[in-house]
Formats: sequence, structure tokens, C-alpha cells
Amino acid sequence: TDRYAVFGNPVSHSRSPDIHHAFAAQRGEDLSYERIEAPLGGFAELVDAFFQAGGKGANVTVPFKEQAHDLCEILTERARQAGAVNTLWREQGKWHGDNTDGAGLVADLCDNQGWELQGRRILILGAGGAVRGVLGPLLARKPAALTIANRTVARAENLVTLFQNPHCPVAAVGLEELGGDFDVIINAISAGLQGEMPALPASLVHRDTVAYDMVYGRQPTPFMRWADAAGAAGVRDGLGMLVEQAAEAFQVWRGWRPDTGPVLQSLRIA
Ligand code: ATR
Repeated sequence: TDRYAVFGNPVSHSRSPDIHHAFAAQRGEDLSYERIEAPLGGFAELVDAFFQAGGKGANVTVPFKEQAHDLCEILTERARQAGAVNTLWREQGKWHGDNTDGAGLVADLCDNQGWELQGRRILILGAGGAVRGVLGPLLARKPAALTIANRTVARAENLVTLFQNPHCPVAAVGLEELGGDFDVIINAISAGLQGEMPALPASLVHRDTVAYDMVYGRQPTPFMRWADAAGAAGVRDGLGMLVEQAAEAFQVWRGWRPDTGPVLQSLRIA
């Protein structure tokens, strides 16, 4: 049995084991996928022990993605740009790292929701690790413009410097100064799940605006409720991104791409 695991803290609520078991079952493959909660200072040691014991691959979630990046000797281009790794494996004695979050987001937005990104004006709320992880794949879809709005403007400005793009202007703005309207609004403010959403003007939304929260929960998130009340044409949570980033990681490890549709559907029901 090939062994996989997701490392995080906390990690007990992770849906990744269910998702990867469902993917493997599509071809009758046998694998185990467990949750491993690493103590805050103990990630590198635990993940090393996991691979020493024969582990084939690991996913990494909050707060260890940057540490996983620093551990890797060989990074994919998208992981290097993201400065974070969510997918780890070992090959010929070396640590390899990839970041599938951005590809997962884009797959959900474009393939599952059917939303167009090319030529659109995108607003991203937040400028933390989650945003850095997805900017490369979003920009690769050639939006007309991308605005990063953050409470701490300096963090958004730092991302603008990292992601200068010849095809698409990337701008930073403080949440307080945010104005105009946007075609696609993506929320990556991590307070979004708990309930504290900063006050945003409804005028950011026009009649065709679509809104996406990178987190998900049992209930619509505060951001989703805000977008809905502001009149957005479509509002979605991040469950599809979770399944798509997992499919991308699964493909990196096992060489074939699982069918995400039925897995997403069964997660929605559960
Ligand atoms: P993540 O990995 O989720 O991106 P992070 O790097 O800690 O986590 O980033 C959290 C993001 O949520 C940041 O953009 C943060 O804004 P600051 O950079 O100004 O801290 C944003 N955030 C968290 N709580 C917030 C709040 N109450 N109001 C506005 N923004 C908030």
C-alpha cells in the first residue's frame, strides 16, 4: 500500500484523506492517506520520518507551506513563484516540491464554474500566503487587470513587485481606498470563515460580477453573503478549489488525473 499524508496544524478537519481515497478508488488503486498534526516547531522532523518510513508523498497545509518550500531541493516553477509548497515527494534522495493551489483555483473557476478570466478585471482581497500561492496561475490566464487589496498595503505592494507582468497591470491598494468595480472578486482574507469581514462597498460589484471565496464551510461565508447582497451574478465557496488542487497533486504523484466531478458532488452531500 502506498502511503500518503497531509501535514498541518490543525489538521483534524482536513477533507484530503476522503478526496484522495475517492480518487484512488476510480482505478481500484490501493493507497492510504492519513492526517498528521505536526507541532508548530516539529514539521521538518515529522515529515522526514514519514518519508524515511516509506511515505510516497505528502500534502502540506497551514502553517507549514513556507517551511516545506524551504526544505525542497527541487521546486517546480509555480512553487518557486508561490514561495510555498503544498505537494512534496522524494526522488533519488532529493526533496521535490510543487504548489497546486493556483492550478486548483483556476480549474475550479474556469472548468467547473465556467467563469472567464481572460480580459477580465480581477480583484483579490488579501495579500497573505494564500494569495501569493495563486497569483501566477491567475495571471497566466491573461486577465485585463489584477488588483490586490489588503488591510496592510505594504504586503500587497510586495506581491506587486514579485508578480510584475508584461500582459496585465497588477496594482496594490488598501482596503479602505478600494473603489471602482470588478468582473471577478476573489476573497483570501483569512478572517472570512470566522465572521469578521471588513466593510466593503457594494459598488465593487456590477451585474455580471462573479465572487469566489477561497475558503468553504457548511454555511455561506460572510464574504459570500456580502457578494450576494451586493448583487453578484454568481457566488461560490472554495470546496471545488480544494478538490482540484488535490487532483493536481494526485497526478503529480501517481501520473494520472482523477475525475473531480463525482468527488466534489459527494463532498457537497456529506
Ligand atoms: P493566508 O495563508 O490565509 O493567506 P496570512 O498569510 O496570515 O494567511 O494572511 C491573512 C490575510 O488575511 C492577510 O491578507 C490579512 O491582512 P493583513 O496582511 O493586513 O494582516 C487578512 N486579514 C486577516 N484578518 C483580517 C481582518 N480582520 N481584516 C482585514 N484583513 C484581514
